[in-house]
Amino acid sequence: MPILEVKNLSMHFGELAALEDINLAVEKGEILGLIGPNGAGKTTFFNCITGFLNATRGDIFYKEQNITRFGPHRVCKLGICRTFQIVQSFNEMTALENVMMGAFCRHHLTGDAREKAEEILKFTGLQDKKNQLAGGLTLADQKRIELARTIATEPDVVLLDEVMAGLNPTETEEAIGLIQKVHEKGLTIIVVEHVMEVIMKISHRIAVFDSGELIVDGPPEEVVQDERVIKAYLGEEYHAES
Ligand SMILES: Nc1ncnc2c1ncn2[C@@H]1O[C@H](COP(=O)(O)OP(=O)(O)OP(=O)(O)O)[C@@H](O)[C@H]1O
Ligand SMILES: [Mg+2]
Repeated sequence: MPILEVKNLSMHFGELAALEDINLAVEKGEILGLIGPNGAGKTTFFNCITGFLNATRGDIFYKEQNITRFGPHRVCKLGICRTFQIVQSFNEMTALENVMMGAFCRHHLTGDAREKAEEILKFTGLQDKKNQLAGGLTLADQKRIELARTIATEPDVVLLDEVMAGLNPTETEEAIGLIQKVHEKGLTIIVVEHVMEVIMKISHRIAVFDSGELIVDGPPEEVVQDERVIKAYLGEEYHAES
């Protein structure tokens, strides 16, 4: 039984079909890579699952429960949490306080939330920066806070929206290591990323969106050979290089 399943999901903005009839199931413990050109509907997909957008049609099931019309807080409480493509850190708050915002999802007492946040800061390698203002940290650390705040909600499923965009190769390697550590904790992960080396390295399976449609879904090595994926996203150069 999949942990998360989307059936016939569509999201229309007026005339624009940002998502059209998506059917996709994610197994517990899986790392699913989600790729596709700009505007393909990847972030919209995350917005629908996490209740930030109300889908036009279709259903979303989490652990067999229909969560299609649930709001963000309720979805988070159930165990699905996401990062934002544009970092949403509270710049005037410290790294610790930022991560506590996630921990408050399950801990109502400040002391308990702080304890949880401290544990997550250690897990994500941010403990030395816990008292620094998020706004003063590097992009890599801000992305790390974004991930830490998400993990602090104690989810079973995390949706990562370009958590490695804009990072240098060393920072990217560190971020990959962190995502693998998160996976080892038993979490199920959907990761949206444009850097193909990263997607190929961490994904068990890759789904490809193009103009709101799921065009291919399969093992990484098959997906990158697929003519439709090469045409819509990777281009002939990628094919020639690999
Ligand atoms: N709230 C909204 N209102 C109207 N149109 C929207 C809204 N959100 C997204 N769109 C449109 O839906 C389409 C899909 O956008 P989305 O952000 O999901 O793409 P994406 O695959 O995440 O792209 P990128 O790789 O650039 O992040 C785009 O044409 C976008 O302009
Ligand atoms: Mg996006």
